[in-house]
Amino acid sequence: MSTRSVVVYKAFERFWHWLQAVLIFFLGFTGFEIHGTYAFFGFRDAVRYHNVAAIMLLLLIVFAVFWHLTTGEWRQYVPTLTNIRSQLNYYLFGIFRNAPHPTRKTVLSKLNPLQKITYFGLKVLVIPIIVTSGLLYMLYRYPQQYGIAGLNIESLEVIAIAHTIGAFLLVSFVVGHLYLITTGETVTSNLKAMLTGVEDLADHGTEPDGGAPAPDPVIAQEKAS
Ligand code: HEM
Repeated sequence: MSTRSVVVYKAFERFWHWLQAVLIFFLGFTGFEIHGTYAFFGFRDAVRYHNVAAIMLLLLIVFAVFWHLTTGEWRQYVPTLTNIRSQLNYYLFGIFRNAPHPTRKTVLSKLNPLQKITYFGLKVLVIPIIVTSGLLYMLYRYPQQYGIAGLNIESLEVIAIAHTIGAFLLVSFVVGHLYLITTGETVTSNLKAMLTGVEDLADHGTEPDGGAPAPDPVIAQEKAS
């Protein structure tokens, strides 16, 4: 099968992805020091750095939401159940037998069904939990304690537990994500694509978006919906 180099990840997308990765890593590192897991910066500085990185992440999220809405790229994350079983089978068994990828990657559909569901869950559940609890944590501790008492939250405990659960979920995602990065066409092809933006995809003709003339069922269904 012939392949063609196409831009899968645009410049802003790569900037967003890598800055987000650095910030989440740093927030996890300082956060678990605040949690008491180890000592590195010292509690006071860990809190200070955690707050600065948190504000940067919030700003980045605002820009990323704007970019996804204006470019229509949010559609990439709409979850689908189609082919989810074959994708799961691939990760559990097929991958160890050198089976072909069950879904085809195109510019219009660059996430497989499991990625769609995972990233969707991250965006609608994990990130909102961590951001909301983090902001409540900040507001409770710093400007005015009574603001949160007004929301009927008696102590920091609920907020701290929610934030820590969010942190564990995010760290679990990162661990899975790091493994899955290596499961592209080659061990490094996914990483290379997110660094350079370019990936070699199966050639589907001359359409500008790289779409397939004879689309596979997953892509056809997504385009239709
Ligand atoms: C916008 C995002 C975030 C905000 C606003 C935020 C804010 C905060 C604040 C204010 C604290 C308490 C600091 C103190 O004790 O004075 C905290 C603690 C913590 N943060 Fe974050 N944070 C955010 C994102 C993250 C992320 C992405 C992670 C992990 C990947 C994380 C992990 C933690 C952990 C583990 C703690 C300690 C919780 C505890 O033991 O009570 N945070 N965060």
